[in-house]
Amino acid sequence: MPRSRGRVILLAILLIAAASAVGGAETAPEKMTPSPAKGELPPEKAAICVNCHGAEGTPIDKLIPNIYGQNEGYIYIELRDMKKGARKNDMMAPVVEDMSREDMLAFASYFSSKRWTNLQQPRAASEENKHFAAMAASAGCPGCHQAGYVGAGTQPHVAGQSEDYLLKTMMDFRSGARANSSWMKDLLNTYSEADIHTMARVLSGM
Ligand code: HEC
Ligand code: HEC
Repeated sequence: MPRSRGRVILLAILLIAAASAVGGAETAPEKMTPSPAKGELPPEKAAICVNCHGAEGTPIDKLIPNIYGQNEGYIYIELRDMKKGARKNDMMAPVVEDMSREDMLAFASYFSSKRWTNLQQPRAASEENKHFAAMAASAGCPGCHQAGYVGAGTQPHVAGQSEDYLLKTMMDFRSGARANSSWMKDLLNTYSEADIHTMARVLSGM
């Protein structure tokens, strides 16, 4: 057997052993606890997310979005869509692979109860803000993303989100790589790439 394959199998065995250890602990009567209150999550669960999304809400990379203070319904929908495969990402795929609906709801409750992180990004230049305001007025962006672009429920908070991430995800909508909203795909396809850059700069600097 090739060595790398052996290593993969060994890893799989270790993972299964770890998973059954966790499963065992959860079903043991003395460990049974009522479902957590709003915003509560066992620290070891949040620790997985913190690896990439950051401990205090500052992600470790500009292509990773802030999720601290993001809206609850939206967090849940994204986790669900990533598990279904409607939204694909190599880093998130293994995270959601075995996530239950209850876990998704608990993560959504936990992260939405945190303060939105200020990533201290620069404000866009005033001509860009004007161009954005004109695009937003005709497209009706604030009608869904709400005043101040903080969203609500299943509408995402986009003001102050990482610029590189915003640009990437809007380009993903356009190309269809992010296929969980045909509405956003069709809307963003009516704009030029330069317009999308403007949107990312203005929103991130809000
Ligand atoms: C290995 C890194 C990594 C880990 C670990 C990780 N994430 Fe992510 N997460 C990402 C990346 C990268 C994206 C952006 C995906 C894209 O571009 O479509 C993302 C996107 C998201 C989004 C969508 C945010 C938005 O604005 O659309 C949510 C919600 C999310 N992650 C929640 C979580 C939760 C909850 C955990 C822990 C259970 C977690 N992530 C663990 C890297 C990670
Ligand atoms: C009809 C309501 C609606 C309108 C109008 C709208 N959006 Fe959205 N937008 C949404 C919803 C809902 C999502 C989340 C889709 C999903 O992933 O399920 C979204 C997602 C996004 C995202 C991705 C957020 C993230 O964290 O990944 C960005 C950026 C965004 N919209 C920007 C805009 C801009 C800029 C405009 C105006 C040009 C706009 N939207 C107009 C409803 C709307």
